[in-house]
Amino acid sequence: MKYTAGFIGTGNMGGALAQCVAKAVNAEKIILSNRTEEKAKILSKSIGCDFGTNKDVAKNSEFIFIGVKPNLIPELAEYIKSDLLERNDSFVIVSMAAGVSLNDLSNIFGALPIIRIMPNTPVSIGKGVTVCAASKNVSNEKIEKFKNIMSFSGKVDFIDEKFINASSALSGCGPAFVYMFIEALSDGAVECGLTRKMSIEYACQTLIGAASLVLESGKHPGELKDAVCSPGGTTIAGVHALEKNGFRNAAMDCVKAAFDKTL
Ligand SMILES: NC(=O)c1ccc[n+]([C@@H]2O[C@H](COP(=O)([O-])OP(=O)(O)OC[C@H]3O[C@@H](n4cnc5c(N)ncnc54)[C@H](OP(=O)(O)O)[C@@H]3O)[C@@H](O)[C@H]2O)c1
Repeated sequence: MKYTAGFIGTGNMGGALAQCVAKAVNAEKIILSNRTEEKAKILSKSIGCDFGTNKDVAKNSEFIFIGVKPNLIPELAEYIKSDLLERNDSFVIVSMAAGVSLNDLSNIFGALPIIRIMPNTPVSIGKGVTVCAASKNVSNEKIEKFKNIMSFSGKVDFIDEKFINASSALSGCGPAFVYMFIEALSDGAVECGLTRKMSIEYACQTLIGAASLVLESGKHPGELKDAVCSPGGTTIAGVHALEKNGFRNAAMDCVKAAFDKTL
């Protein structure tokens, strides 16, 4: 097969994933296509890979990443389906479309091997979370190879598809929630006299450090929170202010609201 990975649609997410895959796969084994050809051309130049038409990608790639918006998938599938059906080598369609299930995808593409993924934007710097579910006709060998080509994107987890919508609400939408938290912490610190630059940097580093401590210690976040709250101290006063203003309720509500939108 000519290409290991082909990308149809090199926008924000398709483009970010193409750049991750290019770290794990030789650039000459990657091809890009995009509706506005110039976009794929510019990215292919920076990666050092090929660009071509949607049909070039569909005919020649082992993993065909579909990076167009969900509503455009049926039309695209209609256009490339005959090329896919004519193939007698083994390939996998990789859909990143939010809210489009494996069942929807097999209604659109037919009974072809499909991996459904839900990445988040930090994949662009190799620190993303990508949850994945595969149709039954994707072999273990292909799943292992897929994990391999995605190994520079961050965490890649194959899970039961029934968890994908909840994961999307948390890790897919989560960067926006976290950016708001960083901005709000920074606003508070600016009010206390720190410069904007200092406050954003310290807020980010605090989030990175605290999150890493949760992962590396294996401790429950509540236990780690208790450990920094001295009796009568400053931290517990801040914790109280968060509780009084419904912080945990807001955080739970935001994930649930995003989840409800996926249904
Ligand atoms: N952004 C995220 O955080 C995120 C997270 C998880 C999943 N996703 C999923 O990722 C997919 C893409 O989202 P996005 O945010 O990357 O959107 P985007 O930036 O608008 O990218 C979509 C790309 O698809 C191209 N395109 C449209 N129709 C095409 C066609 N027929 N053939 C080839 N290329 C075509 C567009 O080309 P033009 O240059 O002509 O517009 C554009 O570059 C969606 O399914 C979305 O649900 C996104």
